Amino acid sequence: MSEIKYDDKARHTAGAANNFRGLCWKLFLSGKWHYFILMISDHGRDIIRRKYDAFSTDRAYEPNFSGLFWPLGVLVDRFIWSFPLHQALRGRVRNVSDYLAEITARLVAEQGSARLISAPCGLIKDLIYTKQKLEQAGVSVSQVHFHGLDLDFNGDVIAEARRRADRAHLEIGLVRDDIFNIHRHYKGRFDIVNCIGLISWMELAEVERLVRYFAEQVISDRGYLLIDNFALHRNSAAGGDLEINTRYFEPKALKVLFARAGFELISEKTTSDGINTVYVLRKRAL
Ligand SMILES: C[S@@+](CC[C@H](N)C(=O)[O-])C[C@H]1O[C@@H](n2cnc3c(N)ncnc32)[C@H](O)[C@@H]1O
Repeated sequence: MSEIKYDDKARHTAGAANNFRGLCWKLFLSGKWHYFILMISDHGRDIIRRKYDAFSTDRAYEPNFSGLFWPLGVLVDRFIWSFPLHQALRGRVRNVSDYLAEITARLVAEQGSARLISAPCGLIKDLIYTKQKLEQAGVSVSQVHFHGLDLDFNGDVIAEARRRADRAHLEIGLVRDDIFNIHRHYKGRFDIVNCIGLISWMELAEVERLVRYFAEQVISDRGYLLIDNFALHRNSAAGGDLEINTRYFEPKALKVLFARAGFELISEKTTSDGINTVYVLRKRAL
């Protein structure tokens, strides 16, 4: 089997022309010196260096402030935490875990079990919250079969997700591979695919290829797909400067694409600031 070149396939860094040092020079030479203030925050440096990978995304979920030149770095870290985009990421993880808990609880009641894959799974915060919500609702978590897949191009995501799963007593199978290779690792289909934080780094044509791939090779008949989209916001302009090439899709265009790929829209939830929308889709019966 040919070796996967992980760098080639990492969508969240797609189109970034410079490494950290090159980007610093570019910002310096173009007079955008205010970005250097962000770099004294640990989260700021992570975002600039790693873009929105699993670790820098996860830092937006829970307050844990750190940085250089105490207390300045900590204060800048706290400021970055309050960015509208980061508030939306916190809203998104709540919305996703609410939906996942609701759907899995219903499937366990109806069919005795539920099989769920999160791809890309990142550091599995949404799955840990889902498990907690199921337990609070008195649903037997052992009836839910959790799986996660992530490209993990630096080789540190799956190991950290494993550590966090162990700490949270969450039984989960974790795999490192490209999103389009899910079918190579598992026998049978999934009741739920949780695809959060990926399509913003893809062209619309590739989103369509991905949603069709889920329908044709991954999701069971009448199974569910959770997927998300962003709207332009106050921090969007910085994306261009920092070579974070986020795509903001017209909701209408996405909905047409979902329908064409064989899904009906069951529900959608937008964060209170209007920045992130999570869609719940259900595969139409053949
Ligand atoms: C923004 S993070 C989202 C992680 C997680 N779903 C969350 O909501 O916290 C993007 C993730 O996509 C993963 N990724 C990027 N390209 C990928 C690909 N081609 N196949 C699978 N995962 C990929 C990255 O490794 C990273 O963990």
